[in-house]
This record gives sequence, C-alpha cells and structure tokens, in this order.
Amino acid sequence: MGDHVPNKTRIAILISGRGSNMAALIYASRAAHCPYEIAIVTGDRSDALGLDLAAAEAVTVERLTYDKATYFEKLEELFSDHAIDVIALAGFMRILPADFVARWAGRIVNIHPSLLPRHRGLATHAAVLAAGETTTGCTVHLVTATLDDGPILGQVEVAVLPGDDASSLAERVLIAEHQLYPRILADFVTRERNPEWIREKVGSLAQTTSEVRFRPIAGP
Ligand code: GRF
Repeated sequence: MGDHVPNKTRIAILISGRGSNMAALIYASRAAHCPYEIAIVTGDRSDALGLDLAAAEAVTVERLTYDKATYFEKLEELFSDHAIDVIALAGFMRILPADFVARWAGRIVNIHPSLLPRHRGLATHAAVLAAGETTTGCTVHLVTATLDDGPILGQVEVAVLPGDDASSLAERVLIAEHQLYPRILADFVTRERNPEWIREKVGSLAQTTSEVRFRPIAGP
C-alpha cells in the first residue's frame, strides 16, 4: 500500500479502457487542496491502456482479469487492503452485482456521457443524434443496483452541433466529462461540511423522529 495521507478520502478508480476520466481525476487529485487521493486504479482488463498511464504517474495499479466466480470478491479484498472510502467508476464496463452495490451503498460514483435520465446504457451519442436532440451532456451519479439510475450528483450540458456525428459529439462531451468528474467528486467527498447538505440531513432525520418538533430555518 502507498503512503496514506491523512484527511483525504481514499478513492479506488475502476476502468476498462483508455482511462481519460481516470487521468482527469488523477491530475485533479494532485492539487494541494483536493479533498481526495487516488489510492488505487484497477479494472477488469489487465491490458487496459489507462493502467499504463496510472502506473507511469506512480499511482498504485492492480492488473486484475475478469473471472466470474472470484472477480468481485478479489476487488473487495483489494479495497479493504487499501482502505478505500469511495469507488469511482470511469468507463468500467462490468455491471456490479447487487450484493456488492448494497455493501458499498452511497459510496460508488459513476460518470455517464448523457444527461441522465435520458439515454442510459451504451451507444449514447448515436441515440442522442437519432433522437434529434440539440443538447446533450454528461452526468455524475451515485451507483445503485439499476444501470445508470442512481441519484444525480451533477451534470454539464453540451450543445449538439448541426454537423455532429457520434464521434465528434463524444469528443466534445468528453471535454465536459473531464471538467465535471473531478469537481463533483470533490463536492461529494466534502458534502458533510456543506451547510445545505447538513440542513437537508437534519430535516429528513427530524421528519422520521416523532419526538422532534423541527422548524426549518432559512438558508444563508
Ligand atoms: C466515458 O465517455 C464515460 O462517460 C463512459 O465511458 C467513457 C470512458 O472514457 N462511462 P475514458 O476511458 O474515461 O476515456
């Protein structure tokens, strides 16, 4: 295990391919004020291009291959060895099993290249063009057992240009993804210091506790 920096949320990034969102998270994590560190990068393909980049950037890399019977068990062992707090999916192409998601509930985030809930699943940009949309974008969301369906943490809109094809659109949306993911991950891991989040949390707890008479206070 690498050096453990106190007070930073420890992130595991899971990838299957080139890892450009992974790179955006690694480079964002290098800012002194960044509230997270990338503790490990791994995935389901030992030859994924992004793993070479992560290794070259001196991030801990674990080259796993996918095996139906043991893969997710191995992954969890790895996360426990590396004291992982939050899992960030970045182009990870496996569906997480429901029991895995349940154990990590509220601690797995994903980036999807559309304005969810529109265009879940694969071939997103082609679907956006086929639907004649003039705006698309990208979404960072919490992962639940249903594909591309968890609570939305943040989105960026991207214009669809008249001459766009799926690849030109993907390229432009990717620029927005690289801006969005590091920022939303930072907001997410520091949410307990956010007065609005605390107010909402106290409010919803008070609603469920009959002994408490809760009077909402005005925001700042
Ligand atoms: C990104 O478009 C991401 O939104 C989607 O898969 C793609 C991965 O690209 N989930 P990269 O590996 O991060 O470059």
